[in-house]
Amino acid sequence: MRRKHIIFFVVVMFLTWNMLMYVTLVTKPQNPEHHHHGDVKVRLNDLQDQIVLQIKENEKILQDLQKKQKQPSNEVVSQAVPKLVRPNDTGGLENKLSYNKVKADNVILPILMIACNRADAIQRSLDLVLKYRPDDERFPIIVSQDCGHEQTAEMIQKYVTDKGIIHIKQPDLGKVNVPWPQRKFEGYYKISRHYKWALNQVFHTYNHSAVIVVEDDLDISPDFFEYFAATFRVLMSDNSLWCVSAWNDNGKRGMVKDDPELLHRTDFFPGLGWMLERSMWLELGPKWPEAFWDDWMRHPDQRKNRSCIRPEISRTSTFGKKGVSKGLFFEKHLKFIQLNEKYVPFTQKDLSYLIKENYDPPFHKFIYGIPEISLNDVASDKVKHLPEVRVTYRTKNDFKAIAKKLGIMDDFKAGVERTAYRGVVSFTYKDQRVHVAPPREWKGYDPTWT
Ligand code: UD1
Ligand code: MN
Repeated sequence: MRRKHIIFFVVVMFLTWNMLMYVTLVTKPQNPEHHHHGDVKVRLNDLQDQIVLQIKENEKILQDLQKKQKQPSNEVVSQAVPKLVRPNDTGGLENKLSYNKVKADNVILPILMIACNRADAIQRSLDLVLKYRPDDERFPIIVSQDCGHEQTAEMIQKYVTDKGIIHIKQPDLGKVNVPWPQRKFEGYYKISRHYKWALNQVFHTYNHSAVIVVEDDLDISPDFFEYFAATFRVLMSDNSLWCVSAWNDNGKRGMVKDDPELLHRTDFFPGLGWMLERSMWLELGPKWPEAFWDDWMRHPDQRKNRSCIRPEISRTSTFGKKGVSKGLFFEKHLKFIQLNEKYVPFTQKDLSYLIKENYDPPFHKFIYGIPEISLNDVASDKVKHLPEVRVTYRTKNDFKAIAKKLGIMDDFKAGVERTAYRGVVSFTYKDQRVHVAPPREWKGYDPTWT
């Protein structure tokens, strides 16, 4: 009874405060120097945005107050549920805010670490995350464990005593119903089931606004948190983005530009250390697939032409030799990916150039302004005086041939090459910047290219 009274009182206080704020802000006398019509309009828009932000923030606080009465009770192991100041919800995609107005530095960005049965792996990745985590309240860690592996559970438990780490366990350890020809893919079914459960926990039980997903076999760079904190602001303010990833699929040592600050947009979903917003999970969660979740994400039905931010030099690298996909890919490719070592203070930089409307026109102009040369000329040393060159592909096989010759990934997922943006794949080849690009009139990806 007393509790209800308090909540009622707080609700009334907030509502009154909202009204007061609205009245004072809207009726605030104009500065006499700012009397031009245009100025007033700008200021009014500004005020409106501020009010919307404020109201959203208040709604969130109210929700949290109400939620305090019914705390989650279904996690198997749970300690120290972090008492978080929740950010203003980023809302649906339709009400994204403009980059300059987004206040992202108080936003809680939890790390969801997906674990199964590798005790040594979880130890290694948790040690690194704890080493680089700048703030345990801003970046709480949720370790979600599948597989019921005792040793791994004990290892995770050792960390739970640390501040801001919780351990949850995927409760359904039963066999997945895999049709016989798919039996060998059972692991991918389990991974998918685990992801669905864990992301539901993040967004529906813990009610976070966004999350950074990592797997237990990833090392992270010193500026991993800084990178996600800064790009979160871009993600929030651009409808055409659906993720930020730490991964460059073509980021092998010697094939990247030595520029840790360099970031790109990509139409390829890279995964491997990636951030998504709550609104995305509300969209994807209900139709989450039974298996192969990452390729499913890359399908046009899910991607819907949206892009991710990715770095030139990866902020994660994988040491997972023994995994569900059996190591071949690891030996041939993954182990060569360069992990960034230099700390970039991204949050102090203006990253608004990554927003689609700022990015696309200069990108197009730049790419098609680069001299076009033949594949053979790139591979030979004939044109070494040019710092940047462009090689054109018109067909799927053109691309594959170029990729094989220059040593980049040659596969497509739903018609999109790894790291591609608007069909363009950029990388460093023998100290020269190469852009493998479709003709200027390119109209879009062809999902039949696989
Ligand atoms: C690969 C991808 C991975 C993706 C997965 C599913 C790379 C390097 N890795 O996994 O990003 O999620 O395919 O398409 O491309 N796990 C469970 N339950 C299980 C088995 C594994 O939760 O029954 C967890 C592991 O702890 C790990 C993740 O799933 O965090 C991926 O498993 P892993 O064994 O590393 O498989 P990969 O082949 O690397
Ligand atoms: Mn792995």
